[in-house]
Amino acid sequence: MLNVDTSPARSHLDDTALQSAESRVNEAWAQLQSGEGPGAEWLGWRSMLADPNDAELERIDALGGEIREEADVLVVCGIGGSYLGSRALVEALAPRFEAKPEIVYAGRDLDGGYLRELTGWLERPGPEGEPRSVYLNVVSKSGTTLETALAFRVLRAWMEERYPGELARRIICTTGQEGGALNALAREGGYRTLAIPEDVGGRFSVLTPAGLLPAAAAGIDIRTLYYEAVSRYKELEEDPAPAVDYAATRLALHEGGTAVDLLAAFEPRLHGMARWLQQLLGESEGKKGRGLFPAVATYSTDLHSLGQIVQQGRRNLMQTFLRVESMPHTPRVPREDDDLDGLNYTAGRSFHEINRRAFRGTLQAHSEGGVPCITVSLDRLNAQHLGDFIYFYELVTAIYGYALGVNPFTQPGVEDYKKAVYHLLGRE
Ligand code: PA5
Repeated sequence: MLNVDTSPARSHLDDTALQSAESRVNEAWAQLQSGEGPGAEWLGWRSMLADPNDAELERIDALGGEIREEADVLVVCGIGGSYLGSRALVEALAPRFEAKPEIVYAGRDLDGGYLRELTGWLERPGPEGEPRSVYLNVVSKSGTTLETALAFRVLRAWMEERYPGELARRIICTTGQEGGALNALAREGGYRTLAIPEDVGGRFSVLTPAGLLPAAAAGIDIRTLYYEAVSRYKELEEDPAPAVDYAATRLALHEGGTAVDLLAAFEPRLHGMARWLQQLLGESEGKKGRGLFPAVATYSTDLHSLGQIVQQGRRNLMQTFLRVESMPHTPRVPREDDDLDGLNYTAGRSFHEINRRAFRGTLQAHSEGGVPCITVSLDRLNAQHLGDFIYFYELVTAIYGYALGVNPFTQPGVEDYKKAVYHLLGRE
């Protein structure tokens, strides 16, 4: 279950602003439901939940199981929407030490030194002296994104040398259904492919093979994740009030002059989800001179770097806390007889309980400092609640974008920079 509390933010807004925002968001909801809003050809993230493809889920799950069995390392090569979702799931749910397979990332920047170090590391034997078994999942809907395509070229050459005759098994391409360079390469090399539906844009693709295969390989229960998103989809179709309330609060803040939404994960394992959300919101709403700039922080760590400016800096930001209500099995602080570090006042408390109090104290201080705050709490950190979280935010992003007056499914600004870079590199 996801608990969303917008009341601390709403107390900064007057009724007229909220009512006006609510009526715009309700219109946006009607537009989305009727499929008459801008970008209606990009609503596959909804239709795939209305009519789940169980056979496809089965196939992804089986392939994930095979990778778990066979691989010591899975390299996931992708960027933006083709990487942030899977990374968020893995960071949230997979073991942080000695995972099998170990999941590492590539193709998300132009850091050639990293690729050199990565291939060097892959060549070294594992902890028991045995050669590492490496699988590669390249994820690119277009198949042409520069960072991913360049890294894939380097990694493919490395794999060819290391595993001659085995690439059909070891390389999996997740890409658009038809066409594109990656489909051509897959045909030529005999690599296995998984398809991202044409009507699902990159940042809405976490519940397609783009996000699900690495998650399944990491041992995450992707069926629970997916079917919880399906349940949430059905619930919100019946009663969109929680999403409308959230989107209207955000819209009223935007219209009132708020410029920044600080997405603060109050659980380090939710850092990746905050980064996923940063792209989902930023790329969707940042058009026509509008939108809240989505910044990311991880607390309590960043209270020691950003806490000052949040508390007392320019009053143009709102904050969204992402947190988990219950984290079982965190250690309790031991009591010490001499109490030299003066910490016995925390003795017997679990780290999670201390973190929960840190959250409450921070919410109180930042609210009193004039920061409108929204809190989104997952009951537990598991596949079920993350499925709920993912669909809820996809829906909020869409209706908020419509209400803001932008097409939330395009990214023309990203194309601008790509064109300039291609020109400088001499591409026709
Ligand atoms: O949301 C988006 O559309 C982008 O972030 C893309 O996911 C990103 O640019 C990567 O594109 P592709 O999957 O085509 O390589």
